[in-house]
Amino acid sequence: MKVPFFDLTPQFSSIEEEIKSALEEVFKTQQFILGPKVEVLEQAIAQYCQTRYAIGVASGSDALLLSLMALGIGTGDEVILPPFTFFATAGSVSRVGATPVFVDIDPETYNMDPSKIEEKITSKTKAIIPVHLFGQCVDMDPLLQIAKKKKIFVIEDAAQALGAEYKPHQNANGQRAGEMGDLGCFSFYPTKNLGAFGDAGMVVTNNSDLAEKVRILRAHGSQPKYFHKWIGINSRLDTIQAAILLVKFKHLEKWTEARRKRAEQYQKLFQDLLSSVPGLRLPMIQYKNRHIFHQYVVRFPERNRLRQFLTEDGIGTDIYYPLPLHLQECYSFLKHRQGDFPISEKAAEETLALPIYPELKEEQEVFVVDRIKAFYKDRGLGV
Ligand SMILES: Cc1ncc(COP(=O)(O)O)c(C=O)c1O
Repeated sequence: MKVPFFDLTPQFSSIEEEIKSALEEVFKTQQFILGPKVEVLEQAIAQYCQTRYAIGVASGSDALLLSLMALGIGTGDEVILPPFTFFATAGSVSRVGATPVFVDIDPETYNMDPSKIEEKITSKTKAIIPVHLFGQCVDMDPLLQIAKKKKIFVIEDAAQALGAEYKPHQNANGQRAGEMGDLGCFSFYPTKNLGAFGDAGMVVTNNSDLAEKVRILRAHGSQPKYFHKWIGINSRLDTIQAAILLVKFKHLEKWTEARRKRAEQYQKLFQDLLSSVPGLRLPMIQYKNRHIFHQYVVRFPERNRLRQFLTEDGIGTDIYYPLPLHLQECYSFLKHRQGDFPISEKAAEETLALPIYPELKEEQEVFVVDRIKAFYKDRGLGV
């Protein structure tokens, strides 16, 4: 049996006709940039995220960049973020001329540890970017308290967390990823829970001034056309991508629930291995959060050997992320060293993402866990 790490083809087969007719509509109108489809998608995402505004942009990276620009963050400013995230979180900060200031993560959730933020705040700190990594929200209450006390902005990097909820209440939604900070940023990169057929992204906010500013900045800062209020960028959402995303959005809840079910199944299948393999850690769900399992990431002893073993068995896995940002070559000017953020460094060495997607079959999942059990059995561990 083969288990690819990720496979979009079954999802496409299930919606092929809907996608084709949505594209046909766009072809007939010959409108390719922004337009009514983008506006409908913006309304749908705003409603889904429980925010007043949503602005479609060209990628999740641009969503971060435009949020920083809208807040006027630039040269001489500092922005706090975790070193264990996708590069764009820090890259966008550097792009506006500001300095990324790293704060280590929690070893169980892999999200930024709010108890370590305050010691990093200086007179130059303008914002914090919590990253809701792998589909679970950062512990936002203490983070928001600090931000409020110190009067600094919060930009949520919710690229991996569309539909994730923080502290859900009984019989009611919790706070959705993206609605808790000043601005929330989403990515519709093809492998995301809601993926386009190319790059696309969205900024959400409850602040009308910031919404207006992002909207103007995404079109070269022009308002009205050819009169430039600010120096913006070209980061508009394509109509074709919006049409595709609107089709897929109708299925998002069903797909997310399928991912959550697959995660629950992994949790059950791994139970007996937990007590016999020291150091093996499954994803931890805080506060009964709604984790949307963009990734299912496990801490495994002998991670690299296990990965090789699974590859030979036809099982795809991936590493998110093999080198924390403070140790990246491009950030050598920040003068960080190995050991500066030990929890992120350990996570980079020990974690492995297993296949998880709505169409993953139960028998494929059983096979993945069986092969992992076989790996540890060969080492005299486990069942
Ligand atoms: C945490 C995080 N931030 C930002 C991004 C950037 O999004 P995009 O690839 O759409 O530019 C991604 C996605 O790749 C991400 O995972």
